[in-house]
Amino acid sequence: MINKINVAIDGPAGAGKSTVAKMVADQLSLLYIDTGAMYRTLAYAALENNVNVNDGDALKHLLDQLTIKLVNENSGTKVLLNDRDVSNEIRTAEVNKHVPVVASHEAVRLEMVERQRMLASEGNAILDGRDIGTHVLPDAEVKIFLNASVDVRAQRRHEEQVKKGLPSNLDELKKEIAKRDKLDSTREVAPLCKAVGATEVDTTSFTIPEVVDTIINLVKKPVS
Ligand code: DC
Repeated sequence: MINKINVAIDGPAGAGKSTVAKMVADQLSLLYIDTGAMYRTLAYAALENNVNVNDGDALKHLLDQLTIKLVNENSGTKVLLNDRDVSNEIRTAEVNKHVPVVASHEAVRLEMVERQRMLASEGNAILDGRDIGTHVLPDAEVKIFLNASVDVRAQRRHEEQVKKGLPSNLDELKKEIAKRDKLDSTREVAPLCKAVGATEVDTTSFTIPEVVDTIINLVKKPVS
């Protein structure tokens, strides 16, 4: 029997965070919160409304008018922007390109962090992102830093795209992932880094079920 806990999973793009977090959530009956989807939704709304992604105040003003709901279903997380399903729209190359800039603004992050804490406030939640263990939930009972080599992450993304029948270029993906890593880990506000007390799990040479088991064991480990 597990007491009320929160699990924080951070790591770079393509490390497998969302796949792993969803599976752990299902097996342990935790609420899965995909925080990247929230930044993606704002980036999508900014592009749709011609809001300059370099203007933090304008983005915050836009965010204040948006409700972002994450609805967990068997097939994945459905993302609702003001009750409109934008689950596919937030995964385009255009959004991939602009979302790191959108996520770099302090005003945007403060509001997102507040919303994420609210969602996790009941406990028994698993959140994945870049700053969960360092900023959103520094007191989370379990903190994981999920990592993998750029090559493996690009290969995984490539296979995902191909499986969905979407166009994909492995070399371009490698470049895009390396660029996003740099932007996410060098930005001034809440850069991606391993939180104090986080366990690093390198997924390069492990299968998804192995990583899921590792995390479940960490969650079930009695607190010393
Ligand atoms: O995990 P993802 O690829 O869906 O994240 C999209 C972008 O949002 C990525 O550039 C990093 C950023 N992000 C963030 O800054 N903080 C989070 N907690 C989650 C995502």
